[in-house]
Amino acid sequence: MKGITVAQPGAAAQLSSELEVPEPSDTQILVKGMYTAVNPVDAFMKDWGLLVLEWPFVPGCDVSGVVVKAGENAVNPLGVPFKEGDEVFGCTRLGNKGYSAWQEQFLMDADVAFPKPKNITLPQAAATGVGVLTAFLGIFAGLKIPLVDPANLPAPTGEWVLVFGGASSVGKFAVQTLKVAGYKVATTCSEKSFELLKSIGADATVDYKLPEAEVISQLKSVTGGNLPLIFDAVSANNALASSIFAALAESTPGERYYTTTNDGEPLPEAQGFTPVPITLGPIGRPDAAELNKQLKEFIAVIVKLIEAEKLQMPAFSVQGHGIEGILKAWEVQISGKLGSTKVLVEVAEV
Ligand SMILES: NC(=O)c1ccc[n+]([C@@H]2O[C@H](COP(=O)([O-])OP(=O)(O)OC[C@H]3O[C@@H](n4cnc5c(N)ncnc54)[C@H](OP(=O)(O)O)[C@@H]3O)[C@@H](O)[C@H]2O)c1
Repeated sequence: MKGITVAQPGAAAQLSSELEVPEPSDTQILVKGMYTAVNPVDAFMKDWGLLVLEWPFVPGCDVSGVVVKAGENAVNPLGVPFKEGDEVFGCTRLGNKGYSAWQEQFLMDADVAFPKPKNITLPQAAATGVGVLTAFLGIFAGLKIPLVDPANLPAPTGEWVLVFGGASSVGKFAVQTLKVAGYKVATTCSEKSFELLKSIGADATVDYKLPEAEVISQLKSVTGGNLPLIFDAVSANNALASSIFAALAESTPGERYYTTTNDGEPLPEAQGFTPVPITLGPIGRPDAAELNKQLKEFIAVIVKLIEAEKLQMPAFSVQGHGIEGILKAWEVQISGKLGSTKVLVEVAEV
């Protein structure tokens, strides 16, 4: 079957027609990919070998598709057995042979695969898995906020959380999820993203291109200076987080947490706050049992929140068709010209 392969770190990605169709284990599903999204991690894997266990490797991890074959004990996170023809989505194992999304058929681990709710489309689903799971990790693992019960959502807490990069894929889900959890949300983004962020629930937006002192002054003004929780959803703000916590130390009593999607760099020196890196990278791997258990719980909650229309799906743009269309779409995503619009490829016709 067809797929995109990379021979060694830094090599060009190529189209191959010689990949083997993998066989699902008892607790796995074999999925035919319908749509796939391009994420920043795909380039990190190709260029530096991040998370890659074996070369050549097939990139791609964010996907929606249809179950072709289900293992006998392949049960979804809501406790329902998967069966042939089910529509699914989510994040595949990264850097593991047979699991990557940029091949026609691939394996997914049933307990960390999303059954697709009927009220979202396959392309919307492909734009969702990595972003929403990372946002949940940041909020409910990194910031230690109790996981919400979709049947009994919390009342407003009145407490502020800051999200760096609310316009990113992770950030948009973080802003919405924090609102669902009852928090007031301030977020940094470009001025052009203010309206979008407000439309999905942000209470305050601050332009991250302003000088640091001005960013801190605006945050102090909107939050009244009490800002105990910060989530960096764009992996770029360790130093700024430290400066904000330092500037607002006196007006923020109690415990303070900083969580970041940047799992590759040293955390900022913690002065009166706890820094917690998050990583979705080992999803599905047998040695990531604790992470998989958390993700399974998150997926059950996310599916119910989507069904209840508590989470809006991200904007996307289909930039290619077929496995061969992935290469051009990848260039578009790397160029950054579509901003925070998710770049998708229609891998197979529905
Ligand atoms: N640790 C993990 O497991 C994990 C998982 C997923 C992602 N990540 C990492 O998380 C980061 C975000 O991923 P993503 O897919 O969500 O990114 P993305 O959707 O590609 O984010 C693009 C947006 O980020 C915003 N942005 C860029 N620099 C910013 C800054 N300094 N402050 C505020 N906003 C900024 C821009 O918003 P404007 O348009 O408003 O300018 C831009 O549109 C990446 O570095 C990715 O590798 C890590």
